Amino acid sequence: MITLEEIKKNESIRALIKAGNRYLEALGYTDHGPRHLSYVSRISSYILKALGYSEREIELAAIAGWVHDVGNSINRHDHGPNGAVMLFPILKEAGMSITDVVEIITAVGNHEEQSGSISSAVSAALVIADKSDAHKSRVRNGKPDPTDVHDRVNFSIHQNDVTVDRKTRLIRQSLVMDHSSSVLEYLSIYMPRIIMCEKAAAFLGQEFQLVINGHAVNNQSPDPQVSAT
Ligand SMILES: [Fe+2]
Ligand SMILES: [Fe+2]
Repeated sequence: MITLEEIKKNESIRALIKAGNRYLEALGYTDHGPRHLSYVSRISSYILKALGYSEREIELAAIAGWVHDVGNSINRHDHGPNGAVMLFPILKEAGMSITDVVEIITAVGNHEEQSGSISSAVSAALVIADKSDAHKSRVRNGKPDPTDVHDRVNFSIHQNDVTVDRKTRLIRQSLVMDHSSSVLEYLSIYMPRIIMCEKAAAFLGQEFQLVINGHAVNNQSPDPQVSAT
């Protein structure tokens, strides 16, 4: 099967990623380039690997993570479905089997919290990976705009770990944030994404738990080291 490394070299995909990231930079968005895509690709494949999915699904999750935001090259609105439509001929031409192409475009077309629905493991893993990306390194040039809530929230986050515990059936996102933002600000922009992560985890037969500075904010934890608020 076509691998992530081959997809990364694809000229059309490279051009679309660059254009989408440049467009979002002009609009004042945080990073949507190789940094974000590497994170999403890595975490998507990690989740499926940790849950014992097949090598094929793990690689497809890695690829979906890398290509999921190409639709931003057209417009932020509906960038999921737009990206899926664009990817169909590109991935087919790259030599990907039609079954795998369909798996990718369904995941990409459904990764936005405004319109996405989860119908596969690859799609679920992509959602958790994409919606969990929050970190100071996502702020462009290391210079947060203090009037921008996304910059403030991201810049306050020093550590972000997503872990899968098969024994307790828990997918946990642990954030460490400083006082330059607040849990309330985080929730004000991430709430729809947290809810989508919960749905994605449920699809995978798991629960999703968000922990901020050692406190579980959305789910009682079986781990005594984490306290629920
Ligand atoms: Fe996206
Ligand atoms: Fe994304």
